[in-house]
Amino acid sequence: MGSHWGFLIGLLGAVWMLRSGHSEQQPPETAAQRCFCQVSGYLDDCTCDVETIDKFNNYRLFPRLQKLLESDYFRYYKVNLKRPCPFWNDINQCGRRDCAVKPCQFYSEEANNLIEECEQAERLGAVDESLSEETQKAVLQWTKHDSSDNFCEADDIQSPDAEYVDLLLNPERYTGYKGPDAWKIWNVIYEENCFKPQAIKRPLNPLAAGQGKSEENTFYSWLEGLCVEKRAFYRLISGLHASINVHLSARYLLQDTWLEQKWGHNITEFQQRFDGILTKGEGPRRLKNLYFIYLIELRALSKVVPFFERPDFQLFTGNKVQDAENKMLLLEILHEIKSFPLHFDENSLFAGDKKEANKLKEEFRLHFRNISRIMDCVGCFKCRLWGKLQTQGLGTALKILFSEKLIANMPESGPSYEFHLTRQEIVSLFNAFGRISTSVKELENFRDLLQNIH
Ligand SMILES: *[C@@H]1O[C@H](CO)[C@@H](O)[C@H](O)[C@H]1NC(C)=O
Ligand SMILES: *[C@@H]1O[C@H](CO)[C@@H](O)[C@H](O)[C@H]1NC(C)=O
Repeated sequence: MGSHWGFLIGLLGAVWMLRSGHSEQQPPETAAQRCFCQVSGYLDDCTCDVETIDKFNNYRLFPRLQKLLESDYFRYYKVNLKRPCPFWNDINQCGRRDCAVKPCQFYSEEANNLIEECEQAERLGAVDESLSEETQKAVLQWTKHDSSDNFCEADDIQSPDAEYVDLLLNPERYTGYKGPDAWKIWNVIYEENCFKPQAIKRPLNPLAAGQGKSEENTFYSWLEGLCVEKRAFYRLISGLHASINVHLSARYLLQDTWLEQKWGHNITEFQQRFDGILTKGEGPRRLKNLYFIYLIELRALSKVVPFFERPDFQLFTGNKVQDAENKMLLLEILHEIKSFPLHFDENSLFAGDKKEANKLKEEFRLHFRNISRIMDCVGCFKCRLWGKLQTQGLGTALKILFSEKLIANMPESGPSYEFHLTRQEIVSLFNAFGRISTSVKELENFRDLLQNIH
């Protein structure tokens, strides 16, 4: 573990900053500063500054990535949304199909409101599973084409319940799935899966009561004691969580009448999740973790270029011309990413000695599989869809980072037995990154909106 020390200091600067100098400063003034105080200037993980990342992402990467993700290869994601929750039985009230028919035992006064809320959540959270006849046929062809992929452990995908879902038909946005049900999921993810000894509590959701200062300190000193990769794992989950919440705030259901549904930015919602004061300091740290996950996924993409560059790799959909064009666009994006001056400490994260790296890789894999199974407990199907996709995408990014040497030694043509990505992994990797990229872009919008209110 000694090899990690150099990097260790840099990696968790967020925590150090908070515990030392930062807490003594006067609270920043404006609403915008109160969310973004920690996300400006240099990020401690990397010698690149936020402004450079924003410019690179918002103007160079994001538009091309959006275009790629609209293509047939990337818009259809095969996923099993029907797996029962393996961890607990009490399905939440709103996610249940018969919610409106058999309303849980609400007290009369609130009953109507709750039922309405349930109905709305159910409607917004439903997954549109329709595929055109043409797509259904194409998809059969893909399965045939991909059958050699199956040596990978995609137990979800083999199930007859796994289905292709059109991601463009099911945008990630506000669904009404929130409150205790949603917190429970996130708490289980953090509590059970962040390599954490039982006794230490993560600072609770700021909206829940009972956040203790000493608890928080125990948590952050625990975090400091971890090896770099495990600490990174926590920050990645936190970054993913932040990203999802940015989306929900940016695609909030502002108006819901039979005439129209209006979606847009809800500044109050954003502030409740990210304002430094309202969240007792957690919010800005979450946003910082969002940049962290961005940089990690970016780095994974820059490392996996050789896999996609091989002449026999195709983005197969059966349309040769389109497939070739998409591959070109994909490589263009990857080269753009590679050209971004990433200044991570290349030699510390995910690169310990081989035995240690393999052990960590396996541990991470189990954790990700576990998180994917926890997603089966998410009552809102659309949230489940995006949760699974993003977990798999992040898992794939880490698989790449743990496989750097294998990728570097990959044969230029012919099958690659040492390192391989399945269609699902590829689709989830790019869509997950697309989500984070969208979040970074949305931060710019929120920054502008917040600047205008005070
Ligand atoms: C997986 O999650 C469950 C439920 O939260 C937990 O009990 C178990 O310890 C977790 N296992 C791993 C390997 O994280
Ligand atoms: C914005 O979100 C808040 C909760 O954070 C909610 O109370 C409010 O009604 C939302 N605004 C609109 C216009 O929907």
